[in-house]
Amino acid sequence: MNVVVVGGTGYVGSAVQEALLARGHQVKVIARHGKVADGARFVPGDVRDMDLVTPFIDADAVINLVGIIKEVPAEHISFEGMHVETVRRIITAMSATRVHRLIHMSALGTRPGAKARYHRTKWVAEDLITHTTGLHYTITRPSLLFGGGAPFFQMIESQIKLPVTPIPGPGTTLFQPIFRGDVARFLALCVDTPQTVGQTYEMGGPQTLALNALYELVAKAKGKSHITPWHIPYGLMMQLARVGQNLPGFPVSVDQLIMLQENNATQDRRWEKFCRPITPMQRDF
Ligand SMILES: NC(=O)c1ccc[n+]([C@@H]2O[C@H](COP(=O)([O-])OP(=O)(O)OC[C@H]3O[C@@H](n4cnc5c(N)ncnc54)[C@H](OP(=O)(O)O)[C@@H]3O)[C@@H](O)[C@H]2O)c1
Repeated sequence: MNVVVVGGTGYVGSAVQEALLARGHQVKVIARHGKVADGARFVPGDVRDMDLVTPFIDADAVINLVGIIKEVPAEHISFEGMHVETVRRIITAMSATRVHRLIHMSALGTRPGAKARYHRTKWVAEDLITHTTGLHYTITRPSLLFGGGAPFFQMIESQIKLPVTPIPGPGTTLFQPIFRGDVARFLALCVDTPQTVGQTYEMGGPQTLALNALYELVAKAKGKSHITPWHIPYGLMMQLARVGQNLPGFPVSVDQLIMLQENNATQDRRWEKFCRPITPMQRDF
C-alpha cells in the first residue's frame, strides 16, 4: 500500500519507516528536514503551510506523527498549532483526495480537561478525528518510549553522570515504558489490519516503574552501582520553569512538570493481540 507518514523523520518516525518498508509498503515521508530510509521518498515541507493534497494523491493511508513536547513562542510553535491545526489540515487534505485511513499518534494521559496543555490539545485532535464522518481512524496513546536513544532516557543518562542526580519531585510517578520498535510495528500493522479501524489503543510496556527506578535502571546499565539522588521539590521547579521555560536551553517547561506528576500507565493490552511485544527494558534506552 502507499503510506504517507507525516512527521516521519523523528524518533518514532524513523522506526515507523523501517516497519512499513519491512511490511512491503511504499513509503512517503513529510517533514521539514531530515533523512529517510532507503526505499522511502522524502517530501520536504512544513505541515503548517505546505500543500498536503499533492502528496496524499494515490495514498492508501496516512500516519500522523507530528507532535511537540514543548512550545517555542519565539518561532510561533504552539501545541494548538502542531497538535490540532495539523490534524485539521491533514483531515481536509484527506477529504479532498478521498483517502480514508488515518493512523494517529496521540499520547497516554490524553483526556478531556487534562491539566497539561500537551494532553489537552492531543485530546482536541483526537476529538476532531473521531468526529469526522467517513474517516477510518486508529489512535494510539503510548506511555514513554524507549530504545534507540530516546530523548527522555538520554536526559536521565546525562543526569546520572553528575555527582548528585537531580530528580524532579519525589520520583514516585509511575511510567510504563514501551519499546519504540513495538510501537512502530503496531502502527505499521494498523495500516492493513481492518480490525483496528475505529479503535483507540493505550499502549504500555511489560513493566510499570517509578521515576526513581528508571534512574536506577539507567545507572545500572551504564555501570554505575549507585546514584546520589537530589529530589528537587516540584514547587521550586515550577517557579523556575515559569521564569525560564522560554529561554533557549532551559531543560523543562511548566507543562512537562505537570505531566511528570501524573502516573502514566495503562491496563490496556489489546494491541498485544496483533503485535507481540519484543523487549523489556534492558540496556538499550
Ligand atoms: N517519544 C515518546 O516517548 C512519545 C510518547 C508518546 C507519544 N509520542 C508522540 O509521538 C509522536 C512522534 O514523537 P517523536 O518522539 O518521534 O517526536 P520527534 O522526534 O520530535 O519527531 C517529530 C516529527 O515531526 C516533524 N515535524 C515537526 N514539526 C513539523 C512541521 N512544522 N512540519 C513538518 N514536520 C514537522 C519532525 O521533523 P522536522 O522537525 O524536520 O520538521 C519529525 O519528523 C508525537 O506526536 C509525540 O507526541 C511520543
